[in-house]
This record gives sequence, structure tokens and C-alpha cells, in this order.
Amino acid sequence: MATLTGSKKIKTAVFISGKGSNLKNLIKFSKTKKSPISIDLIISNNFKAKGLVFGKMFKIKKKVFNFQNKFISEKSILLELKNNKIDLICLAGFMKIISKNFIKNFKGKILNIHPSLLPKYKGLNTHQRAIENNEKFSGCTVHYVSAKLDSGKIILQKKVKIKQNENKKSLEKRILAQEHKLYPKAILKVLNL
Ligand code: GAR
Repeated sequence: MATLTGSKKIKTAVFISGKGSNLKNLIKFSKTKKSPISIDLIISNNFKAKGLVFGKMFKIKKKVFNFQNKFISEKSILLELKNNKIDLICLAGFMKIISKNFIKNFKGKILNIHPSLLPKYKGLNTHQRAIENNEKFSGCTVHYVSAKLDSGKIILQKKVKIKQNENKKSLEKRILAQEHKLYPKAILKVLNL
């Protein structure tokens, strides 16, 4: 993982596909004194991603790639990352699977947040599946990204109790609030701070 040199912050790109609440939270964290990162680039696969609005709001460069041809999109993204001297990637609700080749270029420098206690409930519809299975707890996980979906080494997890009569929406909301606390903590942890 990258290290801090002097007072320079680690240039970070956040990848999003949707509403971007984790992105907004990471931007806010990046602006605090204790943050070792700056958010310098927002990447999306979705022109309509609501979270792209935070690019304009916080004056952060944003780029959208359609992924119709994954190989070409990833190649362009890698160039963009290089041109912007990005050293850390945070996936935050990015709903595309990144290729082995891409990961190789950023080995140990791509993090993801997932709304379950991995290795349980990889993939989509995590909250619904946890409720249907009568789980007592769910939660969220920040992990390194590996070539297999939601399977890289776990960095930090936070448990959230599933209440009686809990529905997908209420659980999602409570877990998302915990995600916002967990992601900055995980970043500090991987950077040994
Ligand atoms: C978050 O709950 C994140 O954990 C999840 O998408 C949501 C994005 O919300 N990610 C995944 O499911 C990845 N497998 P946001 O756009 O408000 O940050």
C-alpha cells in the first residue's frame, strides 16, 4: 500500500455507479486534517449516476466510461488514473466487476465496501437475502479487491443487528450509516495510521 511522504496526501479515485453517499462521505473525510487521502478523481460506468453531482459540488474531476467494451474502458481508465497520479482506488457502490489485468496494475491498492458481513452474501440483494434467511446480524465489510467477486482480504467489518420486522429499506439505511463510519477507518488501517 502507498505510504505518506511528508504532508502530501495520497491521491485517490472513487468509482461509483449510483447515488454516491459513500463518495460524499469519503470526500468529507478527505477534507479533514487527519485524512491521509485526497479525492482527485471520480470514475463511473453510469452517465446517470446521481453521485456524479458531487464532482461538480466539490470541484473534483469526473469521468464516465460506458463499459460496452470492458477492455477499452479499463484501458482508458488506467490511463486516466496514471495521468492524475492516482495511488489508491476506492470502489463505492461500483457495480462492474473489474478484470484481473486491471487489478494487477493496482495490486493491493483497490478497496471495496460491501453491504454484508463477507464472506456471507456476496453479490446483489444482500439485505433482502439476510432478512429472508432470518439472520440475527448483517453489516458491512471493507476489503481489498481481488479478481473474484467480493472475495479479497477483509480489512474491517461492522456488525449491525437485524431488528424484528426489519425490512430491506430500513436495514439498508442503518447499514449505510455504518458504511460511512467504516470506510474512513479502513483507509486509516491500510495506511497504518
Ligand atoms: C453501498 O451500500 C455499497 O456498500 C454497495 O452499494 C451501495 C452504494 O451506495 N456496494 C455493493 O453492493 C458492491 N457490491 P452509495 O452509492 O450511496 O455509496
